[in-house]
Amino acid sequence: MTHCSKKFRAALFIGSEGLYSPRMRVHLDAEKCQGHNRCYALAPEIFDVDDYGQAVLLIEDDVPSDLEDKARLAASNCPEYAITITD
Ligand code: F3S
Repeated sequence: MTHCSKKFRAALFIGSEGLYSPRMRVHLDAEKCQGHNRCYALAPEIFDVDDYGQAVLLIEDDVPSDLEDKARLAASNCPEYAITITD
């Protein structure tokens, strides 16, 4: 019982420090992407561009907390609404 409690507290500690958000994920709809590349310009840590100019998502797991603002900025600047965020 004590062992489980320590594990639970450790998980909360990491979250409360803001080091890593287990909630935010970025989703890219490749069908909607038209290659405007604003996502790559605004958040190159999260997006790359392939040989055809289409966006490629670099982080498919939870987004680190220090990149959350960039993820939101990229999503809000995609003129095709190809990027969505789930929290
Ligand atoms: Fe595509 Fe939108 Fe980025 S159109 S290249 S996902 S800004």
